[in-house]
Amino acid sequence: MRKPIIAGNWKMNKTAEEARQFIDAVKNEIPGNDKVDAVIGAPALFLESMVMNTEGTELKVAAQNCHFEDEGAFTGEISPKALGNLGVNYVIVGHSERREFFHETDEDINKKAHAIFRNNMVPILCCGETLEQREAGETAEWIKGQITNGLKDFTEGQVSELVIAYEPIWAIGTGKSSSAEEANETCGIVRETVRELFGGAAATAVRIQYGGSVKPGNIQEYLAQEHIDGALVGGASLEAESFLQLLEAVKE
Ligand code: 13P
Repeated sequence: MRKPIIAGNWKMNKTAEEARQFIDAVKNEIPGNDKVDAVIGAPALFLESMVMNTEGTELKVAAQNCHFEDEGAFTGEISPKALGNLGVNYVIVGHSERREFFHETDEDINKKAHAIFRNNMVPILCCGETLEQREAGETAEWIKGQITNGLKDFTEGQVSELVIAYEPIWAIGTGKSSSAEEANETCGIVRETVRELFGGAAATAVRIQYGGSVKPGNIQEYLAQEHIDGALVGGASLEAESFLQLLEAVKE
């Protein structure tokens, strides 16, 4: 049985003070981690204080990006070694906004995912198609390609541990969510691709999230699906009350 994982992705939102207030409001209200893994993906600026402020609680901390080298002459970049050393638990990698606005390729993303594991963190590897690709019937092939390239040279054990987030680009921040059945079908393609590449045990173990306009009011429909093990949530993770409602939905 896969444990659900609900991760908020704050993107480039909140000040340090707003982040602190959020964490103070939620950190002691998280359902036991035998039921759900609760994660907040915060801007790099707040990660250190968030790790300190969540110590001893059930809330885990994610970075939203990192470089693929551990350290070096990469002005302005985020070192995965420094993130691991801080006690960050997860790193979101390959988000469609990073692919689109910062031109990250599958190859970059694969190298970053290796750097994340190397520094004792878990990648949340994102994939997803555009509306044009969906309408042209290209979704399955596109997703297979992103997963195959993103997971290049990983071991079965690593793949069993990681999290894959399927986020159809047309459903991100638009209020237009994919139907639960449609999302499940594509998450099933992700799982099948993992099975073909890494075998049945990895396919059974890997956790797959759906992301794209998930809210407290619709999360249960997604979680009820066979291949959906959680959610990666943008807008609805920004308010403490709404984030806690997302977590509560897992228990019901
Ligand atoms: P929204 O939940 O705001 O649609 O964002 C989804 C997302 O991109 C999470 O990574």
